[in-house]
Amino acid sequence: MASAEIPLAPAKANSKPRFPILSFISNYFLLFLAIVITVILVALITWFGMHPLRPRCTLGKFYIPTLDKASNATQTVNSTAISIELSFWNRNTEKKVYYDKVNMTFSYYYGINNGLSIRIGNTSIPPFHQRYLRTKDHVETIQTFGVPWEDVRMKISNGSTTPAIFRVDLETHVRFKNGLWKTRRHELRLGANFTVNDHGRMMSVDNGLRLHTIF
Ligand SMILES: *[C@@H]1O[C@H](CO)[C@@H](O)[C@H](O)[C@H]1NC(C)=O
Ligand SMILES: *[C@@H]1O[C@H](CO)[C@@H](O)[C@H](O)[C@H]1NC(C)=O
Ligand SMILES: *[C@@H]1O[C@H](CO)[C@@H](O)[C@H](O)[C@H]1NC(C)=O
Ligand SMILES: *[C@@H]1O[C@H](CO)[C@@H](O)[C@H](O)[C@H]1NC(C)=O
Ligand SMILES: *[C@@H]1O[C@H](CO)[C@@H](O)[C@H](O)[C@H]1NC(C)=O
Ligand SMILES: *[C@@H]1O[C@H](CO)[C@@H](O)[C@H](O)[C@H]1NC(C)=O
Repeated sequence: MASAEIPLAPAKANSKPRFPILSFISNYFLLFLAIVITVILVALITWFGMHPLRPRCTLGKFYIPTLDKASNATQTVNSTAISIELSFWNRNTEKKVYYDKVNMTFSYYYGINNGLSIRIGNTSIPPFHQRYLRTKDHVETIQTFGVPWEDVRMKISNGSTTPAIFRVDLETHVRFKNGLWKTRRHELRLGANFTVNDHGRMMSVDNGLRLHTIF
C-alpha cells in the first residue's frame, strides 16, 4: 500500500504552477477580456436598443395665387393650385429613415365653430429614404378641387373676424435602419391647422409650421 502512494507525490508537486508569473498574467488577461466584452455588449445594447426618434415635418410654404390680392393670378390658368414646400428632418444620429409612400391631404374648414372641413387637394410622395441628420425638401404644386372660393375670400378680406383655416394631414409608415437591420414599420400621422391671409399665403410662422403627431 505504501509503495502505491509513491507515484502520487510527483503529481502533487506538479499542481504548483511552474511559472507563477504566467498564471498571474493570464488571470489579469481574463479579467481584462471580461471587462472589454462587457463594455462592447453594453455599447451594442445601447446602440441597437436606442429608441429611434420620429422624423419631424414642417410646412414651409403654402400659397394659393388666386387668393393673392396683389397678384394677377385670378386671370391665369390653374391659378387655383396650391404651391407647397414641405420638409422632412431625420433627427436621429446614426439611424437612416425609410419612408413608405407619403399620403398628403389638404382641407379647408368652412365651418370653424363646428369643425366642418372639406378635402381640397391631395398628393403623395413616392417612397424615399434619408440619412441621419438630413433634411429633405419637397416642393410641389397641387391642383385644388371643391374650394368654396367665395367663403374663403370673405374670410380673408380686410375686416373679417373669422379667419380662413386650412389644414394639412400626412400619413405614412417609417422604418429605421441602425446600420445592420431595419426596424418594423412605425405609423407616422401628422397634421396641423393654419390660417391663410389675403395674400393667399399661410400666415408666417418662424421656421415653418411644425406638423404634430395625431393619435
Ligand atoms: C399685373 O397686371 C398689371 C397690369 O395689368 C401689370 O402691370 C403687372 O406687371 C402684372 N403683374 C404681374 C405679376 O403679372
Ligand atoms: C391645368 O389644370 C388642368 C386640370 O385642371 C390640367 O389638365 C392641366 O395640365 C394644367 N395645366 C398646367 C399648365 O399645369
Ligand atoms: C383644427 O381646427 C379645427 C377647427 O377650429 C378644430 O376642430 C380642430 O380640432 C383643429 N385641429 C387641431 C389639430 O388643432
Ligand atoms: C388623391 O386621393 C384620391 C382619392 O383617395 C386618390 O384616388 C388619388 O390617387 C390621390 N392622388 C394622389 C396624387 O395621391
Ligand atoms: C383694412 O381696413 C382699414 C379700414 O377699414 C384700413 O385702415 C386698413 O389700412 C386696411 N388694411 C389693409 C391691409 O388693407
Ligand atoms: C396611401 O394611399 C394609398 C392609396 O392611394 C394606400 O394604399 C396606402 O395605404 C396609403 N398609405 C397610408 C400610410 O395610409
